[in-house]
Amino acid sequence: MRRLVAETRLHPADLVLPLFVKEGLTEPVPLTSMPGQVQHTEESLAGAVRAARDAGLGGIMLFGIPAVKDANGSQADAADGILQRALRTSREVLDDVPAGAATPVLMADTCLDEFTDHGHCGVLTSTGAVDNDATLARYASMALAQARAGADVISPSGMMDGQVAMIRDALDDAGLVDTSILAYSAKYASAFFGPFREAVDSELRGDRMTYQMDFANGREGLREADLDLAEGADMVLVKPAGSYLDVLRAVADRSDVPVAAYQVSGEYAMIEAAGANGWIDRDRAVLESVTSIKRAGADVILTYWALELADWLR
Ligand code: PBG
Repeated sequence: MRRLVAETRLHPADLVLPLFVKEGLTEPVPLTSMPGQVQHTEESLAGAVRAARDAGLGGIMLFGIPAVKDANGSQADAADGILQRALRTSREVLDDVPAGAATPVLMADTCLDEFTDHGHCGVLTSTGAVDNDATLARYASMALAQARAGADVISPSGMMDGQVAMIRDALDDAGLVDTSILAYSAKYASAFFGPFREAVDSELRGDRMTYQMDFANGREGLREADLDLAEGADMVLVKPAGSYLDVLRAVADRSDVPVAAYQVSGEYAMIEAAGANGWIDRDRAVLESVTSIKRAGADVILTYWALELADWLR
């Protein structure tokens, strides 16, 4: 009876799997703070993408970690940079399906923090502040490199003002009119991104309070979503997910484009750690947490458990 009348149902096509690929690795490196997740080699990435495809996931989200980082994040938009190489490899794997068959959407993280030596999402002024407008130009260039490498979706996650409009213009001017934009609209300056720093080898200098939002603010998140919608976002995203279900619900109620939520590294780590200690029932907690995100209004859910969930749901 409960199955018959359930108001919310997860489907593998709702789920997007984030994947990390690091330049120059010879073996995948397990992430201590994210048990079960790894930094992929280019080879092992192809295997993970194949698994995501065969599990019927809705999408994959790629993060690249370059061998060398610098102040401008030069590798972020290099045609042969690690993320672009990974996108080309993934494109091949995802397209290797019978004609007309569904395949996951290929998404790329469009942000500089994986590529800068200072770990900020943008380039810095001479006094060390994040330079919003100079960063926009870098994002536009990244978006072009990613789209040309095969990304279906450009995902600006750096919370720079004007990033969606800037990227849309750059894509359209280059004739890349079919490339979509998933806007990280309401992204909070969150402690729950902690384990992500290990995943992308990033040591952040300072904090992100000048561009990510204050967790005390809900209305501000709605304004950010409205701006991104007006600038042409094809999807809007709330992040983290679990502590922001109210913001997610409110964004879903006013958005006429699909709404995504990102269950982030710290949310994953907490459940894994408590589960490993026998303090909670891990599997039930995974299902409950992800179902709650959908119940709160997410059409699309980014979660590190995507593959495992797809397996359970089958
Ligand atoms: C930005 C980005 C971050 C995450 C996704 N995209 C890091 C940040 O903004 O600090 C975090 C994802 C996670 O914690 O799982 N490149």
